Amino acid sequence: MARTATRIQHRGEIASDWDRGGSGLSAEAAEFADAVLRGLAQQPRSIPSRFLYDETGSALFEDITRLEEYYPTRTETALLRTHGAEIAHCAGAIETLVEFGSGSSRKTRLLIEALRDLRTYVPIDVSESFLAAAAERLERDHAGLTVRPVVGDFTKARDLNGIGAERPLGFFSGSTIGNLTHDEAVAFLDNTARLLGPGSAFLVGVDLEKSLDILLPAYDDARGVTAAFSLNLLSRINRELGGDFDTRRFAHRALYNGRAGRIEIYLESLASQTVELLGERFDFAKGERIHTENSHKYSIGGFQALARRAGWLPMRVWTDADGLFSLHLLRRP
Ligand code: SAH
Ligand code: AVI
Repeated sequence: MARTATRIQHRGEIASDWDRGGSGLSAEAAEFADAVLRGLAQQPRSIPSRFLYDETGSALFEDITRLEEYYPTRTETALLRTHGAEIAHCAGAIETLVEFGSGSSRKTRLLIEALRDLRTYVPIDVSESFLAAAAERLERDHAGLTVRPVVGDFTKARDLNGIGAERPLGFFSGSTIGNLTHDEAVAFLDNTARLLGPGSAFLVGVDLEKSLDILLPAYDDARGVTAAFSLNLLSRINRELGGDFDTRRFAHRALYNGRAGRIEIYLESLASQTVELLGERFDFAKGERIHTENSHKYSIGGFQALARRAGWLPMRVWTDADGLFSLHLLRRP
């Protein structure tokens, strides 16, 4: 991997439980191998969505954000552009911005420009090379801003490894919170409160419930970019774990589960087939699926109730005129 001027901190440096060791694989590869072997052996088969984001997956997600069908990114960007100054005013004098699942940090630029007292930006993401490139671009473009990227799983972060988060604002954009189940989201919000400290503020982008005419194409676009993003998980297993998945014999499926209020994404086997990886064989019946993602949709009140369960107080919410997306400012007493 190319060296970068911005030093990346690994979560392995934050908490040693992450490093399994002994297998000959790096800690990250061992964690991926464990999750895939366990996820394919269980019924229903399921692999955690964070593994969708290797370098290729992160680039494909960026392509998704530019699709006509994918309304969340442009809607949240417009909310930040229109209300950035008001959000900054409500958040108070912020010196440190801590972003969870920062990706390209493209939208974050709007927030960085609005936060007048900002000195340090801490982007946290599992996608290492993408994180490094985004951090470097930001540091180059914002003289006086220190960027301290941390690579790792934001649900497992226990501290910021000595990065002094003075007057912090948390930022969780893109409705990535929707990729967690309700219980996982409450645990994440609770953990984040501890990470940011008492009195901190948290800005969370949350996708809203809406008609299926809008929702389904957003997760199954005409050009097949979302399908490529999903199928890249199988290619990643082939690349990193020596798997022999034939990606032409699996299809991307996006369904709405009305009871759970979420889009569910699966990779469906188009034939009866056997796949091998890491010395294990997995038989797939035609039509059998691997669950790869959930994307929960909330009402404004529904998300506020969830935040309250984790001890956060809803302060303000901004939405677009069509009621597609919401930005919630929360405060921890
Ligand atoms: N916030 C950006 C990117 C959203 S895509 C935006 O709104 O456009 C989701 C991002 O979260 C990806 O960059 C992915 O690598 C990261 N991510 C997903 N699960 C994660 C986890 N458990 N820990 C850390 N990063 C994660
Ligand atoms: C990152 N996350 C919020 C996206 C979403 O909308 O749930 C991931 C995604 N998966 C397919 N399309 C977009």
